[in-house]
Amino acid sequence: MKGPVDFHAIDTSTEMLAQAKSVMQHAGLDPHLQQADVLSLPYKDQSFDVVMAAHVLEHLPDPQRALAEMVRVLKPGGTVFLCVTRPSLFGALIQLLWRTWAITEQEGIAWLHASQLVDVGYQPVRLGSAGLASTAFWARRSR
Ligand SMILES: C[S@@+](CC[C@H](N)C(=O)[O-])C[C@H]1O[C@@H](n2cnc3c(N)ncnc32)[C@H](O)[C@@H]1O
Repeated sequence: MKGPVDFHAIDTSTEMLAQAKSVMQHAGLDPHLQQADVLSLPYKDQSFDVVMAAHVLEHLPDPQRALAEMVRVLKPGGTVFLCVTRPSLFGALIQLLWRTWAITEQEGIAWLHASQLVDVGYQPVRLGSAGLASTAFWARRSR
């Protein structure tokens, strides 16, 4: 481990992993990167204090399955963060271009509660000049 955190990340795309490595190294992190599917994470149960996914769940046919897998690898008391495209004009453009779908705040909150997570919160996020195109969610796995 180099730096203040032991950082593990996955993506199905080797190109995205290469980009992620470059960005994280620039930030002083020494990430462990693996090509893997979020539906079958290559980690043991209860491995991490924090688990996050940014703009991944809205690409999947069954986002709740991915969330369940993320919760599996989260320690009790650990925090999950999600960032997803929310319904908006810019969000609609993203959906058309990348065939993703937008997730309302009510849907995101319902998923987090359905995954037995507690202390659920959310905050719309501004993306550059695109306005409030995303929502960040957070929640905690109960102890
Ligand atoms: C919009 S990009 C977001 C990339 C990065 N998380 C970020 O915020 O910059 C969506 C990413 O989800 C990845 N992805 C799609 N389906 C996946 C899956 N089943 N498991 C893991 N990654 C997946 C894609 O390869 C792509 O890199």
